[in-house]
Amino acid sequence: MTGPYLIAGNWKMNGLNSSLAVLEETARSCEHLNEEVDVVVFPPATLLAVSSILLKDTRVQLGGQDCSSEVSGAFTGEISASMLKDAGAKFVILGHSERRQRHAESDDLVRRKAIQAVQEGLKAVICIGEIAQEKADGKTLAAVSDQILYSVPRTSAVDQIVIAYEPKWAIGTGVTPTLDEIAVVHKHIRVELLAHWGESGRGIRILYGGSVKPSNATEILAISEVGGLLVGGASLDAKQFSAICEHG
Ligand code: G3P
Repeated sequence: MTGPYLIAGNWKMNGLNSSLAVLEETARSCEHLNEEVDVVVFPPATLLAVSSILLKDTRVQLGGQDCSSEVSGAFTGEISASMLKDAGAKFVILGHSERRQRHAESDDLVRRKAIQAVQEGLKAVICIGEIAQEKADGKTLAAVSDQILYSVPRTSAVDQIVIAYEPKWAIGTGVTPTLDEIAVVHKHIRVELLAHWGESGRGIRILYGGSVKPSNATEILAISEVGGLLVGGASLDAKQFSAICEHG
């Protein structure tokens, strides 16, 4: 697809008020980026509101790491899509493998969360990807197809849907698929998106995530159908993250 790359930094359960200096440094380093790169950082929910003030008028946008499938009400501990929006978020990550595994989130729950996010005007970054056993069994493409079928709502607002392909075994391990493997899976995802959405499926951005660092960002971004990167560990270091953004 055309349009700017999206480079996203998922801080996961990291970040205190004292970490805001990292965000400031990231924003400073991203000021000179060309128009071909959009940058979004996903700090913990506790830092969203203050980050939104700090990032005002910078190139760095904000996102939440999860949202509820409900609008509001008696759901202790949950955060709604409208609350994220109210705190300054423009994006939300949904169905990250850490939530699918640790919190037993089903495809259907992820889909319902995405519906809420889209209704609130947020961009839903829906994570998919095979676990190690599925890869070993040669079931990567089937796993990804199923997740697209059941986790991604059939909305016509394709500009509010982003797919992040993150093989579980590549997350935080320092191991990445080969460039050919990434290319094959991304091509397969595009074929699935076109099958479900028709031509408008071409407008859905597909990110790669899993052990992205400055040294592999350029070659991964050069792969056809890779529309950006979802970065975990390296996004906690402003120098590494902005170096990755510069590859866009
Ligand atoms: O969401 C990003 C992520 O799961 C990848 O993490 O640390 O392997 O870059 P990391």
